[in-house]
Amino acid sequence: MHVSRDLAHYQQDMAETTGQEGAKGGPHYTKERLKYSPEEEARLERKHFWRIIDAFRYYRIHVQEQVKRAERQFQSLPQHHQDLLPDVLSNLARIGQCADHNQEVLQAIVHNSLHMFENMEYGEREDPRKIRPSSTFDMDKLKSTIKQFVRDWSESGQAERDSCYKPIIQEIQRLFPSDQYDVSKVSVLVPGAGLGRLAWEIARLGYMCQGNEWSFFMLFSSNFVLNRCEKVNALTLYPWIHQFSNNKRSSDQTRPIRFPDVNPQSLSLNADFSMVAGDFVEVYNEPESWDCVATCFFIDTAHNVLEYVETIWKILKPGGVWINLGPLLYHFENMANELSVELSYEDIRTAMVRFGFHIEVEKESMQTTYTENDRSMLRYVYDCVYFVVRKPAELQYFNGQNEDHLQNSPPAAKSPRREGPDSPT
Ligand SMILES: C[S@@+](CC[C@H](N)C(=O)[O-])C[C@H]1O[C@@H](n2cnc3c(N)ncnc32)[C@H](O)[C@@H]1O
Repeated sequence: MHVSRDLAHYQQDMAETTGQEGAKGGPHYTKERLKYSPEEEARLERKHFWRIIDAFRYYRIHVQEQVKRAERQFQSLPQHHQDLLPDVLSNLARIGQCADHNQEVLQAIVHNSLHMFENMEYGEREDPRKIRPSSTFDMDKLKSTIKQFVRDWSESGQAERDSCYKPIIQEIQRLFPSDQYDVSKVSVLVPGAGLGRLAWEIARLGYMCQGNEWSFFMLFSSNFVLNRCEKVNALTLYPWIHQFSNNKRSSDQTRPIRFPDVNPQSLSLNADFSMVAGDFVEVYNEPESWDCVATCFFIDTAHNVLEYVETIWKILKPGGVWINLGPLLYHFENMANELSVELSYEDIRTAMVRFGFHIEVEKESMQTTYTENDRSMLRYVYDCVYFVVRKPAELQYFNGQNEDHLQNSPPAAKSPRREGPDSPT
């Protein structure tokens, strides 16, 4: 595993896109990242690219193996038990068919990904037809990516988007109203943009918006949906077939979703929307360049969340705002050989204030879901933290240098719109 600094510009049809993709990872205990020669970087980058392409191609075999296992288990039951439920095997066959269909969509995504980066070619596979086995880890990532289509680009994801994206979008509109600002000049960055819907919605309102994403799983998929899917609800996925437990009805497992629920190409011609590939902290180092940074379910993806806070502080213009919604489900917790600092929200808040951020809005209990299967017998609710913090227009407090400010101001006093758990969001 490595950190790449190669530039990989991903060209979007609707807006020119520049960016960087880093196959991040690797032992990360020190601040210094491993440095490789440019040739080694390029080799590792290619290897990572093809590993993810392989995962997309292997999906069907992986799911068919799960289905076969389920068939074997059922067929090992006493015959009189099997006879009680004559539909079980046909339901399993149906799951197999749904997996075949998902594979067709994944093939289309792969097909459109091979040359998606304008400044980066990944060569050709020696034996392009050969399907190579993938790890369970990569298969899990791929299944999560399939569920991400529900969240971002299906009608079934509307309620979830309302709970996660709407508060952020409304805040942007409150802070930068179109009757007071030329919104096309208000720059909004969405790090960890996933399949791009939040960034797209912000651009749809006329703001200059850039999504940033690191994962090839997400980048391949967002490229496909944003650039190749014009017809509303023309495509189908079966996102729940991988869930064999907690189904009330067999048909719940094989129910489809359609996407995209809107035409992603319907942005106005002068919309300024782009996606940039790469590691947020590596790509964004231009100081004072953004009016707004909007993070949704993102800050817990950090090895060191303070690095994100520091980067956001640096790249915001004086007077710029950071809007955040999400939990703290630290992605690297318990991962071998990975640095992971699991700070509480209280600690992050202290650090933000010490950097100099002014807390303008703070809600410690915003209930949301994330790629929820709304028919499952097991459903998770995230009790998210939401905040809006501002980098002051005139910098007085920086890097904890003004301790008095922190000590003299109890948290609530700095939060004019602090609201308790019972407050409507
Ligand atoms: C939990 S997902 C949230 C996606 C999206 N914001 C949403 O709300 O649906 C976190 C995203 O951040 C991306 N990510 C993680 N580390 C990143 C980094 N260092 N730079 C850019 N993106 C990153 C992941 O690939 C993933 O797509």
